[in-house]
This record gives sequence, C-alpha cells and structure tokens, in this order.
Amino acid sequence: MKPRLLVTGGAGFLGNHLLRRANQFVAAGTLHATPSTSLPGVTFHVCDLQSPEEVRVLMDRVQPDVIIHTACSDQGKGIEAILPAAGLLAMQSVERNIRFIHLSTDQVFDGTSAPYTEECPTNPINPYGKAKAQAEELIRSLNPKATIVRTSLLYDLRTPDRQTTRLIESTKTGEQYRLFIDELRCPIWVENLAELLLEVATKNIPGILHLGGPDSLNRWELGMGLLRHFGVTQTLNIQKGTIEESGLCRPKNLTMDSSRSERLLKKPRVSLQEARKMTVTSER
Ligand SMILES: NC(=O)c1ccc[n+]([C@@H]2O[C@H](COP(=O)([O-])OP(=O)(O)OC[C@H]3O[C@@H](n4cnc5c(N)ncnc54)[C@H](OP(=O)(O)O)[C@@H]3O)[C@@H](O)[C@H]2O)c1
Repeated sequence: MKPRLLVTGGAGFLGNHLLRRANQFVAAGTLHATPSTSLPGVTFHVCDLQSPEEVRVLMDRVQPDVIIHTACSDQGKGIEAILPAAGLLAMQSVERNIRFIHLSTDQVFDGTSAPYTEECPTNPINPYGKAKAQAEELIRSLNPKATIVRTSLLYDLRTPDRQTTRLIESTKTGEQYRLFIDELRCPIWVENLAELLLEVATKNIPGILHLGGPDSLNRWELGMGLLRHFGVTQTLNIQKGTIEESGLCRPKNLTMDSSRSERLLKKPRVSLQEARKMTVTSER
C-alpha cells in the first residue's frame, strides 16, 4: 500500500510542484486563502494551520504517514502563521507518529560568515528569518526526529516565478530594477527541490538539512540567467546594484554548504545551467 503524504500549502509554489510529482504516495494538500484547486489523484482540504481544532480535524481526515510542511512563507500574512503552524504540526507529528519535514530558509543566518553548514549558529536579521528560526527551535524541542530543510531562492524554468515575472515586466515598463551583486544565495530549481524532498519523505533524517542549489550566485547572475532562459533581452533600466548603496538591511552572503544532503540523498542537485538543459530537452 502507498504511504499517505500531506503537503501543507498545496496551492503554493513549492507545495504544488510537490503534489504534481507525488505519485508514489496517496497525496493530500492543504489550502488556506485559495478557495479551490485540483490535481489528478490529489485531495485538497481547506485548513487554517494556526487553528488547533482545524489541524486536528485535518489529521483525522488525512491520517498521513508523512507531512511536508511548505505553508507559511514570507508572503501575505504567512509570517504570523509560521510559529503557531509549526508548533501545532510538530505536536501532531509526535502524538500520531508521523514523519515530519519542515521547510525553513537560509535567512535564519545573518550573511556575515558564509559558507553555512547545519552546525553554524543562526542569527536572523529580518522578521521572516526570525520567525523561521523560532519555528526551527520549537520543532526541534517538540519532535527531535523531524527533518528541518533549509533551502534558498526557488526558481522555475517553465513558467516565470513571482520575482522573474516582475523582472520580465520591468523590461516592458522601464521601471528601474536593481539586482544586487553583493547578495549571494544558492538558488535551486523548484522541480529539483520537489524531487529531493520526496526522497527525504521516504527516509528518517533527524535534524537540520541544507538543500540549496550547487552554485552560489549573486542576484545579478541569477536574474540574467533567467532572462536568457526565457528569451528576454536585458534593458537599460535593469542595473547592477549593491545592498550597501540601497540602504536596505539584508543578509549578504547566504551561501550554504549542502554536503550533508549529498551524502544522504541519491538524487543529485542540479545547477541553473544543468536545469536549463534538462528543461529544453524535456520540452522537445
Ligand atoms: N520561495 C522561495 O524562494 C523560498 C526560499 C527559501 C525558503 N522557502 C520556504 O519554502 C516554503 C515554500 O515556499 P513557497 O514560495 O512555495 O511559498 P508560497 O508560494 O508563498 O506558499 C505558501 C503557502 O502557505 C499557505 N498559508 C499561509 N498561511 C497559512 C495558514 N495560516 N494556514 C494554512 N496555509 C497557509 C498559503 O496557502 P493559500 O495560498 O491557500 O492561502 C500558501 O499557499 C516556505 O516555507 C518558505 O518559507 C521559500
């Protein structure tokens, strides 16, 4: 019999990609503000993950063997929900003996001492990073068997993601757009991350697991790579910039060391260049 998988944030960017590929599971997803959606073979349940009662009813209905908790990002009111949702799901996972995988972020670090391994101390400098760091701590105290996956910027190569859509739009509107050359991340292709997480869902991996892409890229390199991929010519309104001159408070270098995941998982992590080749080949 197939194991039962619950993906929270089933209409979200990563959650939806996970559910599209989850055919080795009996799959279910949650929705919150999204009124309805559908995917073949997947059941969806409306649930506010901040509500203990709604979470209990959800667990009774789905009876999952594994939860991949992607819900509650930095979008909309998601930040407020990060800590309560993490706590409720972690408690349920212990009470019901469910494998629990929580999505966290490289933004739990301050960006001053990269590369970051799983052992490095966290020091978030923005409200999103702070909420995610608190959620990690709470989960570890409630369920030491849980896997906490820290990932980095997610990009899509079939349909432009939110940020790439804005970048492409700016080539039409002429809106000034700065891409930081001093902000380094390990961006990962959302399809690659979804496959890696589905492998994590079949294993017991307690503790923190870094799952960023194999290359450390600055925002300019990533933005230019994605414009090239979607066949859009760069316009003069898109300029190189620095966090320093912007006056913003952002972590600079969030390069993550993901070698633990390389040792534990069979599926490889692919670079932007490799992912672009794979996308072109599969669309022929
Ligand atoms: N995207 C990135 O670049 C990135 C980078 C690092 C880490 N991450 C982490 O990876 C995970 C997935 O990110 P994503 O970009 O796929 O997120 P996303 O597209 O913003 O989706 C987040 C989902 O959370 C759900 N949600 C928000 N509040 C909720 C609540 N109270 N109860 C139930 N559901 C709620 C929303 O459901 P509705 O739409 O139905 O309202 C939404 O679908 C997040 O945990 C994020 O922090 C993302």
